[in-house]
Amino acid sequence: MDIYGKYREALEAVMARTAEQIEAYGAAEQEKTGEMLYEHLRYRLKSEESMEAKLRLRGLPLTAESALRGVRDAVGFRIVCRFVDDIYENIEHIRALPGVTVAEEKDYIRRVKPNGYRSYHMILEAEAPYEDALGRDPGRFYVEVQLRTIAMDSWAALEHEMRYKHEVDNPELIGRELKRCADELASCDLSMQTIRNLIRSHAKPAVNGR
Ligand code: GTP
Ligand code: MG
Repeated sequence: MDIYGKYREALEAVMARTAEQIEAYGAAEQEKTGEMLYEHLRYRLKSEESMEAKLRLRGLPLTAESALRGVRDAVGFRIVCRFVDDIYENIEHIRALPGVTVAEEKDYIRRVKPNGYRSYHMILEAEAPYEDALGRDPGRFYVEVQLRTIAMDSWAALEHEMRYKHEVDNPELIGRELKRCADELASCDLSMQTIRNLIRSHAKPAVNGR
């Protein structure tokens, strides 16, 4: 069974187009300033198994339509940045992408999740020359974008992995320790940002003006 059915091609096209757009502003910015706006970009189409599991969990029918409308991260991007300020710069570039509107945003950097998770989440609607699950053509397809620093990303990866090993007898202690690590990493992110700001404010203007 193909959970994405006749929309698979559209989703793959949306993912490829969005990747191109993000890579394009990344390259243009690097050309202009000599610095990378993000360290790396990852993206994926959610696997059949994960999508089906999520639909079941939510009590939604296992159809392509609910995979596209009931779940909004069939297409998912992760933009991993070196500095916290770069996250907000990337967000401005994403808001300005042609054919893209922002449906929802969650700032888990300013409003940290109780477990310590930090990231900025955007749900985009990207227009594409394909019929969507509501019969619109050109259609609009959800794309989830998560923006994080390298430190936030490494914490999230480890926490995600450990979450599945929580049949331990002291989950509160583990949760507390993970939260403490998240806060320490956030403090390092803040220091790194401060160091960069200091370097920039003392740097002689570069040839390219920055
Ligand atoms: P889902 O997209 O179904 O998860 O629902 P939601 O609307 O509550 O999503 P939210 O924006 O809060 O989180 C979506 C995604 O962010 C998840 O699928 C994970 O990739 C990531 N995420 C959110 N919270 C955590 C967390 O506590 N730990 C880790 N490792 N990842 C998280
Ligand atoms: Mg999700």
